[in-house]
Amino acid sequence: MDKKSKIYIAGHTGMVGSAIVRKLQKDGFEHLILKTRDEVDLLDQEAVRPSFLQEKPDYVIVAAARVGGIKANITYPAEFLYENLMIQNNIIWLAHEQGVKKLLFLGSSCIYPRECPQPMKEEYFMDGKPESTNESYALAKIAGMKLCEYIYMEFNKKFISCMPTNIYGKNDNFDLESSHVIPALIRRMHAAKMNSAKEVVIWGSGNSRREFLHVDDLADAIYFLMQNYDGKQFLNVGTGEDISIKELASMIKDIMGYGGALVFDTTKPDGMPKKLLDVSLLHQLGWRHTISLRDGLEKTYEWFLETLH
Ligand SMILES: NC(=O)c1ccc[n+]([C@@H]2O[C@H](COP(=O)([O-])OP(=O)(O)OC[C@H]3O[C@@H](n4cnc5c(N)ncnc54)[C@H](OP(=O)(O)O)[C@@H]3O)[C@@H](O)[C@H]2O)c1
Repeated sequence: MDKKSKIYIAGHTGMVGSAIVRKLQKDGFEHLILKTRDEVDLLDQEAVRPSFLQEKPDYVIVAAARVGGIKANITYPAEFLYENLMIQNNIIWLAHEQGVKKLLFLGSSCIYPRECPQPMKEEYFMDGKPESTNESYALAKIAGMKLCEYIYMEFNKKFISCMPTNIYGKNDNFDLESSHVIPALIRRMHAAKMNSAKEVVIWGSGNSRREFLHVDDLADAIYFLMQNYDGKQFLNVGTGEDISIKELASMIKDIMGYGGALVFDTTKPDGMPKKLLDVSLLHQLGWRHTISLRDGLEKTYEWFLETLH
């Protein structure tokens, strides 16, 4: 990509898409194609096609998707499968038809099997069934990644994919019905602090371990891959470090200065016991994250206070 390239960022209003826009704008890219859902509903191919024909993007980054935490995934499996398949198929196939030079599809680490050896290497993909709580989302992501791979092989096109770990940061979704763990913990602990509540109840045992990457680091990795990586193999994107939900909650409690207790509700599901990506391939290519979890959480809480509180 050069500064004059036409780059379509699908999903630019979301957490990841907006971070990619910030990164590209900061680096002087002048021709970003950004369409809101009202302008182009990505579920509707008849709306996506004229937009592609009119804008003729050179490069495409697919950061549009139906995304949600464990509760939303369990409640709406049909919508998660249908909407994600439609959005990604519409964009990826039109990008192929219209001769886009390079496309990057954002998958997710939930494509890996529930019983996957840890840390999860790219080669463990499809070695078992995905975690049941996010099966439909995982199936859609697997299909999107495979579609890119097949287009890469059959038509010799640079359609690549990355599988990021759990992402957090500015513009995250803080709606308790659909949020991921970090925004949910911040929102609930903030409310407890404001109401001087004695405790905050957290879903699950707190023992499951997760990896978290700040969204600005992900945007930087995506830029790096668009500029430097043309391989067929999808790549994990993460920090290579994990933390238990209990430790994470304690860190957030400390950053926020909440004085109450954290209570773990073991009647609620934990999801996979451990999820940690092996990021050796990405490290070998020369990319590493730079934002520590504590710094990233502090920045995210500041943003929450300025924007949503
Ligand atoms: N968040 C994570 O922890 C995480 C981890 C790994 C991978 N990823 C991947 O990263 C990508 C972006 O995630 P995110 O966290 O940035 O999600 P997000 O904040 O929910 O953003 C999703 C984006 O997709 C757009 N979108 C959804 N349905 C649409 C439709 N029918 N028509 C037009 N636009 C539509 C949304 O537009 P509106 O603003 O109109 O809703 C929004 O811009 C996804 O592919 C996700 O799987 C995310």
